Amino acid sequence: CKKIKAALLGLGTVGGGVYKLVQRQKEEMVKKSGANLEITRILVHNMNKQREGVDASLLTDNWKEIVEDPEISIVIEVMGGIEPAKTMILEALCAGKNVVTANKDLVAVHGRELLDAAQENQVDFLFEAAVAGGIPIIRPLKQCLAANEIDEVIGIVNGTTNYILTKMFEDGMDFSEALAKATELGYAEADPTADVEGLDAGRKVAILASIVFHSRVVFDDVYTEGITKISAKDVAYAKEFGSVIKLLGVAHNREDGIEVAVYPMMLPKNHPLASVRDSFNAVFVHGDALDDAMFYGRGAGELPTASAVMGDVIDIIRDIQFSCTGRISCTCYKNTPVKSSDD
Ligand code: NDP
Ligand code: HSE
Repeated sequence: CKKIKAALLGLGTVGGGVYKLVQRQKEEMVKKSGANLEITRILVHNMNKQREGVDASLLTDNWKEIVEDPEISIVIEVMGGIEPAKTMILEALCAGKNVVTANKDLVAVHGRELLDAAQENQVDFLFEAAVAGGIPIIRPLKQCLAANEIDEVIGIVNGTTNYILTKMFEDGMDFSEALAKATELGYAEADPTADVEGLDAGRKVAILASIVFHSRVVFDDVYTEGITKISAKDVAYAKEFGSVIKLLGVAHNREDGIEVAVYPMMLPKNHPLASVRDSFNAVFVHGDALDDAMFYGRGAGELPTASAVMGDVIDIIRDIQFSCTGRISCTCYKNTPVKSSDD
């Protein structure tokens, strides 16, 4: 059976999860995709770090060894940040390699440019893990719900803040203790300011709004407000009213333009999003044909996120076998006005 070679960029929380799943699923992978996947190179920052259970001969800090290797057909970017990730992804796409990323910071700002590069080079550029961790959301919205006119997306799309709020409500934990725990569990970003100030959720909502409204919504279009100002007093007040506080990402397609925002909101306990606890996420959408639908699952963490990354990798392996890479990344955007976050 055909052997397909991949490189992993990053071996932190998500990269470690991807590596584990590839090892664990070796035999299954052949049944699922018809090919044998092998990770032949892993790019890291610090070559001296101890990494348990990883074949050290695969590690490198030299990107050229990956991009110039003609046998590597899939690059999995899980290092995070804008640079050098953006340059590496563009170089990989231009070298005819398919790319999978979990990097919402990058997709929310430069997604269009990266998708265009993928299309020009007839390769796949997929980013299922960039929104709501392990929950299948990008592909269902883009493909399964393509027959719908979607006018609303509302969701809890950040696992760290949902974990913090859950701990503050249920265990009386204070904010910084809950954040430290979320970081220890691998949910938080390298700089958790992005989580607690609503920036990470804002990036995800920009990606979702671009997909469902066939538009170009970037992070700067999103009004963001985080949870840093929520105190024990607010928690007690919400409880008194039989409510909880959740950080919501909201996108609406209205006649005068698209509105995208992230803010904390008090929800009555019987609201479907009120029961989304811990690092779980949920995304609610309304389509004209489907009516209401809700997607629910783990929004962060090692294996849930690796699950979404590997779903993309398996899709690419199938595309390689049928010589049809480039097909699933292709998207058309129209220019719908986006209401500025200052409006
Ligand atoms: P980590 O900080 O745990 O891991 C980052 C990895 O990338 C490390 O192995 C690091 O190397 C490597 N790295 C960073 N910069 C460079 C560089 N310049 N050159 C080479 N290697 C580099 O991050 P996560 O795994 O948590 O997140 C990775 C990506 O996935 C981010 O884009 C994040 O937003 C996204 N994501 C994360 C989720 C989560 O639950 N954690 C969920 C969904 C998406 P070294 O080990 O040597 O330091
Ligand atoms: N820091 C992010 C979160 C990781 O907590 O949701 C998943 O994107």
